[in-house]
Amino acid sequence: MTRHTYIALFLPLVAIGLGQLLTGAENPHLRYGKDEAQWMRWRMGELCTEEGVYFTGSGNCVNCHAPDPDGEALVDEHGATVSPVADWQATLMANSARDPFWQAKVDHEGLVNPTHRESIENLCTACHAPQGYHEAHLTGTAGANGYTMDDLMQDDLGLDGIGCTACHSIDDDNLAGRSNGDLPINDENVSWGGFENPWDGLMSGQTGFIPVFGEHMRNSEVCASCHSLYTHTQDLQGEETGQVFFEQTTYLEWVNSAFNAENVQCQSCHMPLVEGGAIAATQPNWLFPQRFGKHHLVGGNAFMLKLMRDNAVQLNLSATPVQFDSTIARTVASLQHQTAHLKVRQLATSPGEWAFEVEVENLAGHKFPSGYPARLSFIEFILTGPEDDTLFHSGAWSPANGINGRDTGLEPHWNEITSPDQVQIYELVLGDVEGATTQVLERAAILLKDNRLPPRGFSSQHPTYDTVQVGPMAALDADFNRLNGEEGSGADRLIYRISTGETSTVHATARLHYQAVPKRWVEAMFDFADQSERIAAFESMYAVSDRTPVLVAEARSTGWPGFDPDATDWRMAPNPILSGQLLRLVPAGEEMPSAIELFDLSGRLIRTVDLSDALVGHSVEDFAAGNYLIRLVFEDRTQSIRWMKG
Ligand code: HEC
Ligand code: HEC
Ligand code: HEC
Ligand code: HEC
Ligand code: HEC
Repeated sequence: MTRHTYIALFLPLVAIGLGQLLTGAENPHLRYGKDEAQWMRWRMGELCTEEGVYFTGSGNCVNCHAPDPDGEALVDEHGATVSPVADWQATLMANSARDPFWQAKVDHEGLVNPTHRESIENLCTACHAPQGYHEAHLTGTAGANGYTMDDLMQDDLGLDGIGCTACHSIDDDNLAGRSNGDLPINDENVSWGGFENPWDGLMSGQTGFIPVFGEHMRNSEVCASCHSLYTHTQDLQGEETGQVFFEQTTYLEWVNSAFNAENVQCQSCHMPLVEGGAIAATQPNWLFPQRFGKHHLVGGNAFMLKLMRDNAVQLNLSATPVQFDSTIARTVASLQHQTAHLKVRQLATSPGEWAFEVEVENLAGHKFPSGYPARLSFIEFILTGPEDDTLFHSGAWSPANGINGRDTGLEPHWNEITSPDQVQIYELVLGDVEGATTQVLERAAILLKDNRLPPRGFSSQHPTYDTVQVGPMAALDADFNRLNGEEGSGADRLIYRISTGETSTVHATARLHYQAVPKRWVEAMFDFADQSERIAAFESMYAVSDRTPVLVAEARSTGWPGFDPDATDWRMAPNPILSGQLLRLVPAGEEMPSAIELFDLSGRLIRTVDLSDALVGHSVEDFAAGNYLIRLVFEDRTQSIRWMKG
């Protein structure tokens, strides 16, 4: 074997960085030529141009914030567009009111609790259709039971989703303390932005909205009120129990993390700044580059973006397939490069048994997964033998059956997995008043399970803790979010212990997968398809969708028989070596020797041996019976082992 192959063989022991192994995501940065930019602008004409009292349609921002046909404004240092309209248009937030899953789920909640239907709809629209909701409430045109789905379906401003003015009209007024979409909306048509001294000549004239610098736009607080959601628990008869349940706490999870103290805001990751700034508008043509946050706004939901792309006509979405592909590529890139680190390491065991420790470390600024309770992440672990034969497989996924081995009720949080019907799933599982699992948001009463990986720096002593608790099983796991007893690692470690009887070298592969909308989470809703066109419509889109989980990270390790990670000395097996047997080295620790030399007892070098050969098995058939030495040369030491050929 060449030097290269043995490096490849060995890297896994040190654990492979995730990025290299995964296929590079398609380059999501679009550059528009003159014609394309013009065409984009024309297409953007489909965006809402309705003008309200407090909000205005996003189509009214196209004139100056869409891609520049001259390629000068709204581009980064490479000439790729950073147009907020182009980037935002194919995100989930832009399409939040037309999201078919959301629409179906609102109907589902209303059908389960018909007496509360309108108040539920009034809650759901607050965040998913904020412009319609707030315009109606602030102008007093909402009905007695609030802003409903019927109102939304006839309201272009509402269907504009989280439009430009939904975010840009948020005043700096106790933002950190808000939740459930309770936004303080500016009543003087100010459009707050992130850079100082914007030039308002044309913008207020054309749109009625005045660009003004608001420092709060740079901070997480502006995202807080829509990314903190609690519900009033209802029992199975639909009566409120008086209890409050924290359903989505992404903002609070961030507050309880190291990122908060390090001034890494939601925008730092979700709206990365253009290096060197960008000219913020295409008109007038004499503007200077300014601080510019890219409106990427991607999380992990590649699944729904694909479903939207594939059903864009039926759903009446304005973004092009190219724009969706670009947002999907960014989402996959964020999952594969910014979400988690995965490591696998062999542990000592007795012969015939194998043990590997898998460590998952969350890199996101909140729990992973976070947000909507359907999200989950799971570990697939495979052990293969010398012939590439599968000895063990936990967490296999198939389109028909989902995650193999997942219990029908509640899959426990595992600390040690010994059988293929056990699988580690990082998820939030809601329980109703009777303690049964439920996917009805309004019935959520208790946390049956929440082992989603906390962010780095997360602490159970933090004042937010009662809103962002770790679930009962993970809280008992001594290495969940803890390293050497100290909280805040943002990681979990678990052991796979497998008895196979296999005594030669094996290979372990661990994969971390993410799923935004698992089948099991939506099945109960589909039972209502005959009572709601929106549920039926989503069910038919879902049925033909590609539900393959996104591969977030992969790591591998070789398993050596007799491996002892704590030993400082390498061993040789077997010793003595009989005719027909191979000389084999058993490593200790992770440092590999740079040379391996065989001597006779008089100190004469017989030959050097390749590392991979020495590990897999090197023939010494040509040696006469007798005593020999093997010398391993490390960076700052050598080790000699005396051995015998029988
Ligand atoms: C506080 C604001 C807020 C309110 C109120 C709210 N949601 Fe959401 N909802 C969100 C956010 C934020 C997400 C996305 C989180 C994520 O991506 O994980 C979301 C995601 C969803 C999704 C998943 C969409 C997808 O494409 O995967 C559904 C379904 C949903 N909400 C239904 C509802 C229903 C039903 C209601 C009313 C009972 C409701 N929401 C009320 C903020 C809210
Ligand atoms: C007629 C052109 C025009 C239109 C239409 C327009 N803008 Fe602007 N916008 C500008 C200009 C010019 C600036 C300032 C650029 C500068 O000073 O470098 C600006 C700046 C901004 C800023 C940054 C303010 C800051 O201090 O960071 C925001 C936010 C903004 N616009 C939002 C919007 C929204 C939302 C719409 C649609 C409702 C819109 N704009 C429509 C021309 C326009
Ligand atoms: C989810 C909320 C949100 C939505 C929706 C949104 N923006 Fe922004 N926008 C922001 C935030 C936050 C900043 C400030 C980023 C920073 O500077 O760190 C910003 C900044 C800007 C800026 C100035 C650049 C800067 O970094 O200060 C412009 C111009 C702008 N937005 C226009 C738009 C337009 C046009 C739309 C609709 C197509 C839109 N935005 C939609 C949140 C939003
Ligand atoms: C350190 C970078 C970082 C920071 C800070 C951060 N996020 Fe994220 N966020 C990510 C990554 C990476 C993902 C994709 C992995 C995932 O789904 O959790 C993500 C996913 C999400 C999701 C989708 C959740 C899911 O699992 O479907 C939402 C919603 C979200 N972020 C909102 C926010 C908000 C709101 C803030 C600020 C309070 C914030 N993020 C801060 C990196 C960050
Ligand atoms: C007006 C309410 C509102 C505000 C303000 C808001 N969001 Fe959201 N956000 C939502 C809703 C609703 C969704 C889910 C839409 C859906 O899936 O249909 C969402 C989804 C997301 C996602 C998930 C996308 C994915 O691919 O999984 C991210 C990331 C996100 N928001 C980040 C932010 C950040 C960062 C800010 C602040 C700059 C912010 N949001 C402000 C309501 C809001």
